[in-house]
Amino acid sequence: MRGFASIFVLVFAFHAAAEEVSFQRDVWPVFKRHCIGCHCEKKAKGNLRMDDVSALLKGGKMGALFKPGHPDDSLLISQISGEKPEMPENEPPLSGAKVKLLRDWVSQGAKIDGPPQFELPKLVIPAVYETAPAVASVSISPDGRFGAAACRSEVVLFTVDHDESPRRLPTDFDLVTHVEFSPDGTRLAVAGGSPQRFGGLMIFNITSGQKESERRVGSETFFKGNFSPDGKSLALGGGNGAIYIFPLDSDAPPKLIDLHSDWVTAVVYTRDGKQLVSGSRDKTTKVSSVDGLSLLRSIDESADFINAVAADSLNAISGGNSKVLAGFDLNLALGGVEVSGSGNGARPVNNRSQYLRAFESQSDAVMSLATSGDGKLLAVATRGAEVRVYQTDTRAKKVSLTKVPTPVFAVSLNKDGSRLVLGSKSGVVQVWDTTSSTLIKSLKPVPVFGDGFQGTR
Ligand code: HEC
Repeated sequence: MRGFASIFVLVFAFHAAAEEVSFQRDVWPVFKRHCIGCHCEKKAKGNLRMDDVSALLKGGKMGALFKPGHPDDSLLISQISGEKPEMPENEPPLSGAKVKLLRDWVSQGAKIDGPPQFELPKLVIPAVYETAPAVASVSISPDGRFGAAACRSEVVLFTVDHDESPRRLPTDFDLVTHVEFSPDGTRLAVAGGSPQRFGGLMIFNITSGQKESERRVGSETFFKGNFSPDGKSLALGGGNGAIYIFPLDSDAPPKLIDLHSDWVTAVVYTRDGKQLVSGSRDKTTKVSSVDGLSLLRSIDESADFINAVAADSLNAISGGNSKVLAGFDLNLALGGVEVSGSGNGARPVNNRSQYLRAFESQSDAVMSLATSGDGKLLAVATRGAEVRVYQTDTRAKKVSLTKVPTPVFAVSLNKDGSRLVLGSKSGVVQVWDTTSSTLIKSLKPVPVFGDGFQGTR
């Protein structure tokens, strides 16, 4: 018999526990459905807000909304009960089950086990846009035949030499911040995410157009990144100050190097794939070891945000809002730092002048940098009205493209640097031949009303 008794106690206890009313799970959905239309921040009838914990605890102009443990002395319950309940005003009364639920909740102490949850607005990619979205990132395939442009939540893939209609690849990111063809041109990486919610990465196969993989990581969006030279990994800058290194041929989680105190706006591999150069809103440019997953050295401290980084065969290059484009001789900058070691190696910047390799001054904030696949050319986009291409070995300017839509937000060069694609704030994408400085193609990647698209909105 004792056994039965304890089973009984257990079952009873289980039932009692199962009927514990949760604010977040049970009560909030009732408030959300029937009450907050008139009791929220924008419209607080009777001075009562029901969409926020502290406001719920405060009550309205008649005072407290509930007295924990005493449903019969609670305004909340009296307003929804009776022959003709006062609330919800001018609407059908709550069902008996919902009234009981709210009563039980108050009887049990009106505990608030979590804040009200709101569904986030569903992301919609318009078939036709009202205004062209700014192009945040572009890439051109190594052979120069394909281009890709990030337009808000989607990526548009287009051919350079033909007039086939562009292919639109949707994502579920609020913003795509990075697109990049793999070094062999077979894949397209698409990264971004939603601020304070998640970072996302999708890999598309260029030949099939199919999505190969898709991942969501952490609670912060990603910024710009780079394929490793062997195409096996992708490094991305994180909104939390870390660099994420994703293996592309396995589902293994990304490796992290946590090194900046603010957004990592851009990260690139050095040409041997052994190090990463990163720039941040914390104004620093840093070099870290891929194998050691650790910071090797802070090589520069700028006066303002760093927006873009690049690497050629000898140097790291960075630029940002301070309008300075700076190169850093990596051998000298890292001299004395144990490159393969696991120590923190983060020495203060003291012999910067010895390893600084300055470029000519820039007319405005540096927005984007790109090297050609062979590392010989560097393209520089600033907020100013031109895109410049430099010879990396001599630092000499090779080309200046002036008839560009300003400001240009993103640039990319193909393998031999003969073709450059750029994306602008105005939503226009252009492809240039850098050997003759001629415009090959100009397009608005997504359909926009007024640009030949009529019909109903
Ligand atoms: C269509 C609008 C509307 C809806 C929906 C509505 N209310 Fe109200 N509510 C009012 C108005 C208007 C008042 C102010 C009445 C007054 O001051 O005489 C009020 C006042 C109250 C008060 C008294 C606040 C105070 O301290 O003066 C409570 C409690 C209340 N509502 C609860 C609810 C609950 C619970 C729901 C959902 C089940 C609800 N209301 C839904 C319009 C609404």
